[in-house]
Amino acid sequence: MRVPLIAGNWKMNTTLREAVELTQKMLRDLDKIKNVDKVLCPPFISLAAIGELIKGTSIKLGAQNVYFEEKGAYTGEISPLMLADLCDFVIIGHSERRQYFNETGEIVNRKIIAALKVGLKPILCIGERLEENEAGRTEEIVTNQLNSSLTEISNITGLTIAYEPVWAIGTGRAATGRQANETIGLIRRKISKLYGERVAQDLRILYGGSVTADNATEFMQQPEIDGALVGGASLKADQFVSIVRQTSELK
Ligand code: 13P
Repeated sequence: MRVPLIAGNWKMNTTLREAVELTQKMLRDLDKIKNVDKVLCPPFISLAAIGELIKGTSIKLGAQNVYFEEKGAYTGEISPLMLADLCDFVIIGHSERRQYFNETGEIVNRKIIAALKVGLKPILCIGERLEENEAGRTEEIVTNQLNSSLTEISNITGLTIAYEPVWAIGTGRAATGRQANETIGLIRRKISKLYGERVAQDLRILYGGSVTADNATEFMQQPEIDGALVGGASLKADQFVSIVRQTSELK
């Protein structure tokens, strides 16, 4: 049985003070919800403070990005070793990083290798763009992204995949539960081909893209969907808690 996971990707939102306040607002309610892994992914500069706040609770911390070198002259970058001390998870290959920061499949691959090496759990994001979806190329795109991201990685223990169709991110136009379930099933079959059925059945695959408290049930009812990567709605304490609660009830 896969334990569901709900991660809040706060993206480039919240000052340190706002991040602390947001965490304090949901801390108690989130902590009480069982059978779901709850992960907060605030901006880098708030990780340490939130880490202190959630100490001793069931809430986990994740970063939104990482560099693939461990140290050296890489001004402005954050290394996997720095994060390994602070958090459990790290989002890698988010479509916004691919789009605005030119992250290629090769870079994503190096970041995953670097994260796994220090015991960080990567949340690998993949998903097709609108024009690719409309051209019926979803399978081809996610397959290519999986192949390039996982090149020369023989053991994916600790990995989570988030299927985030780019056209659904921040648009209010979520995929349907059925669409998301279908593509996630396809991703699981690809993983089974690469790593065997056992590994594929153990792997958590999340849906992301305009998930809210209003549509969470639709996704969590789907057998292939193991949770969600939530953007906008994770910035609202009551929405995020509700998404986690619905997940706990349905999974
Ligand atoms: P939204 O939930 O705001 O659409 O963002 C999804 C996302 O990109 C999470 O990583």
